[in-house]
Amino acid sequence: MLKLPGLIDPHVHLREPGATYKEDFDSGTSAALAGGFTVVLAMPNTKPPIFDSGTLDLALNAAKQKARCDYGQYLGAGPDNADWELKKSLPSRAAGLKMYLDSTFGELRLDDMTLWHPHFENWPKDMPLVAHAESRSMAAAILFASIYDRSLHIAHVSLKEEILLIKAAKENGLKVTCEVCPHHLFMTSSSPFGRGQGEGRKEVRPRLASQKDVDALWENLDVIDCFASDHAPHTIEEKDTDNPPPGFPGLETALPLFLTAMDNGRLTMDDIISKMFSNPKKIFNLPEQAETWVEVDENETYEIKAAEQFTRCDWTPFEGWQVKGKLRKVVLRGKTAFEDGKILVNAGYGRDVRG
Ligand code: NCD
Ligand code: ZN
Repeated sequence: MLKLPGLIDPHVHLREPGATYKEDFDSGTSAALAGGFTVVLAMPNTKPPIFDSGTLDLALNAAKQKARCDYGQYLGAGPDNADWELKKSLPSRAAGLKMYLDSTFGELRLDDMTLWHPHFENWPKDMPLVAHAESRSMAAAILFASIYDRSLHIAHVSLKEEILLIKAAKENGLKVTCEVCPHHLFMTSSSPFGRGQGEGRKEVRPRLASQKDVDALWENLDVIDCFASDHAPHTIEEKDTDNPPPGFPGLETALPLFLTAMDNGRLTMDDIISKMFSNPKKIFNLPEQAETWVEVDENETYEIKAAEQFTRCDWTPFEGWQVKGKLRKVVLRGKTAFEDGKILVNAGYGRDVRG
C-alpha cells in the first residue's frame, strides 16, 4: 500500500450552474474523490459564466450544499469586468482568474488584445491568473506577463513549441508555470479510441497532438509544474452528434494512468507528488488539509470502465485501458471519504478553499 497526500486538480469543469445533466458539484466532487483528489478548482465557463459577484455566489452556494471534497471556483475574464481593483473582496473569494485567449467550449473568449491589458493590470498580483492560450497566443500571453511583471499559469500545454517556449521563459526568470493533461501525455491524434467511440469523442481543446509533441512533453517533465485533468464532461449523445463539443472526462482516470507510468519507469513517486500536490498547492496558494491522505494498492491491475465511474457523462476516452495502481481509500480531514469504490461523505462535506 502506498500513501500519498490528498491530490489537487487545478482544472476541472463541473458544469454548475447551467448544465447539471452533464455534471454538478455532487457528481463532479464524487468523481474527484474516486480519483484521489481532495481539492478541485472549478472553471468558470458555465451557464451563465462566472464573471461577477452574483454569478460567483450562484456557483459557491451550489458547491457549499453539494460538494463532497474541497473546492475553489474561478472567475472568468470578460470584455467588461476587468475593474478588479474596485471589487476588493471578489478576487479573494475566487480560486483565480481564467482568461480564454483561444476558442473552446463556452462564450468566455477575449478576442482582442486590447481586452487583455486591464485584466493583466488589475487582477491582484498575488492571486492566480490562468490562461487558455495555445501556440502563438501563449507567446503573446507570456509577453503580457512579462510587461506587467506578474505570475501566469498556462493551462493544458500540449505542443512541443509550447513546452519549449515555457522552458525558455522560465530560464529567463519569467514567473510562468504550466500544467499538462493526461490525454496529452498518453494519446496522440491517431490513438485508437474504444470500440464504438466515433470521431466526435476525440474532440478536445487543445486537440490531441502528434507523437513528436507527446515526446517533447515527456522529455521536458521538469518544465511541467502540474498535472491537471481538465475534466470536461459532455454526454455520449452530445459527443456522438455532427457537432460534438470538445472535452474529455478525466478525474477518475488521471491517478491510475500516472501510477501505471510510474510502474513503467516513466515517472517517479516524487514527480506524482510534486505535480499533483506540492506544486499546485503553492501556485494556487491552497490551505493545508489536516489529516488528509490517499491510499493506493500499487500492485493491483484493472481495466478502466466508464460503467464504474461517478461522473455523470458515462464515458471515458480510456475505456478498456489496463492500468496498474488502484485507489483504495481517501481520508479527508480525518474522515474516510472514499473506500473500495464507495463515497462515504455527504454532499456538503467539502469546504471552500477560499472560505
Ligand atoms: C472544455 C469544456 O468542455 O468546458 N473543453 C475542452 O475541450 N477542454 C473547455 C476548455 O478547457 O477549453
Ligand atoms: Zn478546461
